Amino acid sequence: MSSVRIFLTGFRPSIGALRDELARQPGIEVAGAAGTMSESARRLRLEDVDVVLHAVLGRTLLQEELGAIRAVTPVPIVLVAEEHDPGLLDAALDADVADVVVLPQAAERVAFTLRNVARRVAPQVETVRKHARVITVFSPKGGTGKTVVSSHLAAAMAKHQRARTLLADLDLQFGDAAIMLGLEPEQTLHELATAPGTLDADKLRGYLTRHAPSGLDVLAAPLRPEDGELVADGHVERMLDIAGPLYDVIVVDTSPSFHGPMLSALDRSDVLLFVCTPEVPTLKNVRLGIETLRLL
Ligand SMILES: Nc1ncnc2c1ncn2[C@@H]1O[C@H](COP(=O)(O)OP(=O)(O)OP(=O)(O)O)[C@@H](O)[C@H]1O
Ligand SMILES: [Mg+2]
Repeated sequence: MSSVRIFLTGFRPSIGALRDELARQPGIEVAGAAGTMSESARRLRLEDVDVVLHAVLGRTLLQEELGAIRAVTPVPIVLVAEEHDPGLLDAALDADVADVVVLPQAAERVAFTLRNVARRVAPQVETVRKHARVITVFSPKGGTGKTVVSSHLAAAMAKHQRARTLLADLDLQFGDAAIMLGLEPEQTLHELATAPGTLDADKLRGYLTRHAPSGLDVLAAPLRPEDGELVADGHVERMLDIAGPLYDVIVVDTSPSFHGPMLSALDRSDVLLFVCTPEVPTLKNVRLGIETLRLL
């Protein structure tokens, strides 16, 4: 595999020396380093890296610091600690970091850990398709759990599979995927649909809201029901065409009706998750829904 690009974050006296030593290791490329979390976040947004090596001061700020890193990048994080602290290992395990290196440690050994971590996630990266797998979550009955399923699925794909994941909320009138994830989006599908000019990848990024704990991107539904009317089939088609190469997975949440934009998403879906609860009216609608889909 090609060189592993790493980025060093955190304030520890030894990190400067480690950075220089790692830069000399074969198979390791040091993309940069930053001390404060705000500077790290700013730089990580711009850098394309495989692994973040974070020098941790102790357990107290661990969650906060990891949260700041994960808000901007989904890549694995390796912790560097300067003293042995068994509690830190437990905390690291809970926080789902890829590995922990306790200094002093030979740079070759740290490089080995970094390359190993990068290799572990590499199969997922290598199987990245040229176009995202589109998973549409649908139910012909309201309140069956579409949004719970789609938001949890998307967050899990982003966090645990480290897949570049977009959750697109096509419940155009009453979409609540963003609120379910605790987000307050400033830009939504409504702004995307009403913006002048042609949508491209850079523009699309401006309409997304990042779910920091998982690294998931969310394209929120319009905030007002009447704004949903302005979203047309073409907007959804264009959005999926543009987002396809940027993501590994696109999860689409829907409303319980067959409207044009939803059918556009369905047309481009690889997987349809049909959510159903064991009640007679729901089962009746599911049967009708499946029959209708077969006709499409
Ligand atoms: N597996 C589950 N177990 C228990 N409660 C659930 C489960 N899935 C969803 N719920 C609850 O059911 C309610 C409806 O869920 P959700 O909003 O995901 O449904 P929906 O199909 O998206 O609804 P709508 O059609 O209004 O968009 C919510 O209160 C949610 O917390
Ligand atoms: Mg819903």
